[in-house]
Amino acid sequence: MENLNTIYQSKLTTPDEAVSRFLHSGAVCASDIALAHSSTLYEAIGRAISAGKLDDITQHTLLDTSPFPFYRPEFAGKYHGVSWFSQASSRKAINAGIADVMPAYYRDIPGLMETYIQPDVLIAVVSPMDKHGYFSTGCDGSISAGILATAKTILLEVNSHMPRSLTSPQIHVSQVSALWENHTPLICLPPTKIDEVSAKIGGYIAEEIPDGSTLQLGIGAIPDAVGIALQNKHHLGIHTEMFTDSMMTLIECGAVDNSTKPIHTNKTVAAFAFGSQRMYDYIDDNTMVEMLPVSYVNDPATIAQHPNFMSINAALEVDFFGQVCAESIGTRHVSGTGGQSDYVRGAVQSKGGKSFIAFASTAKDETISRIMPTLMPGAQISTSKNDVDYIVTEYGVAKLRGRTLSQRAKALIAIAHPKFREELTFAAKKESILI
Ligand code: COA
Repeated sequence: MENLNTIYQSKLTTPDEAVSRFLHSGAVCASDIALAHSSTLYEAIGRAISAGKLDDITQHTLLDTSPFPFYRPEFAGKYHGVSWFSQASSRKAINAGIADVMPAYYRDIPGLMETYIQPDVLIAVVSPMDKHGYFSTGCDGSISAGILATAKTILLEVNSHMPRSLTSPQIHVSQVSALWENHTPLICLPPTKIDEVSAKIGGYIAEEIPDGSTLQLGIGAIPDAVGIALQNKHHLGIHTEMFTDSMMTLIECGAVDNSTKPIHTNKTVAAFAFGSQRMYDYIDDNTMVEMLPVSYVNDPATIAQHPNFMSINAALEVDFFGQVCAESIGTRHVSGTGGQSDYVRGAVQSKGGKSFIAFASTAKDETISRIMPTLMPGAQISTSKNDVDYIVTEYGVAKLRGRTLSQRAKALIAIAHPKFREELTFAAKKESILI
């Protein structure tokens, strides 16, 4: 232990010092998702760039948690952000032409990192070193291994609030280039407000989910509302990309016990976690939660091994064919594919499985129908017409899989907002879709 502490002390530095010693102009850096982002290091890189000491740095990210420098106009052309799954800051920067976007299935990102991107540098926030000299990447097990395949420089921010996950990648102190301590509390997501529409949709989906099912819940109020609506179920399991607070609620109330899962029995499986401190505390040293690489977790072949697999995700619009757009409003960038398509495919291949894509029937104060004859020009398709299963709005559930175009259009019009049904029917007739 003494030896490990000596090594630790020899690598302990400040973010500015780590940047000046280990980063060179042109370096390609990458981080895992959400809580893996080290603001302290990104800001230090920004300072070095502003001082003219560094140039042409690229940072690959997923699910930004703050307006990092590489998304800010003053660093355009010098500090390049590449978003693989966007939130507010990256979305704004991409639409302003400041940052770039990488289309990819989440499950492919570790392989794409290793094969195409080949980052020079891993930047991560980790839990404190254990007695064997290892740092756990904690809440982020998703793509770190893919980055580590090529990254020769490893820069770690040690944060005592980051839980120690026993299954996330473990990095030994001897591998580390530089580390610094920053014990500020981790970013937490505010509790989701479940509005009337989300609650209604959550109720419909809950009716379709039998006891003993295994769940994936995506991002947003609707997947959270489904979680809340499932509290009276029994023997549910969790196999998901993002571990959320609604899942914590289901574990705490006993609805989830993971007992019927044929693989990882009795355990919750996720690729990453993002939510409350209560959840981060639950993950800490807990053998019952496994954070595993997304290339395995999101593989439809892994998902399909669970009977009655239920996947619930949100979207922005759907057309009569059942093509789902969850990533853009026309050409305007909103998000990434994430795991939506992986889970839709896995769920429909699972015995008894179902996939639900759910959203409010309208947007912008009921002025826009989200069920449309065709998607907006430039809209990006996240789930194909050949994979789509159930579409759900506050007006009910439309089963599309195994249905013809005419049957799909009728089922979708029936769950559109009543004020749009007539014009949708007119459009379907005009295109000779309704038979
Ligand atoms: N036309 C115009 N505006 C639209 C619209 C449409 N068809 N559909 C939605 N909007 C607007 C909404 O009005 C809302 O605007 P506001 O912020 O001004 O209120 C905004 O777009 C977001 O819509 P909302 O339904 O509230 O989104 P959400 O927070 O539930 O997130 C996704 C939905 C699709 C962006 C989100 O689920 C996502 O990122 N998905 C990515 C793919 C995925 O599912 N991956 C798997 C889980 S990680």
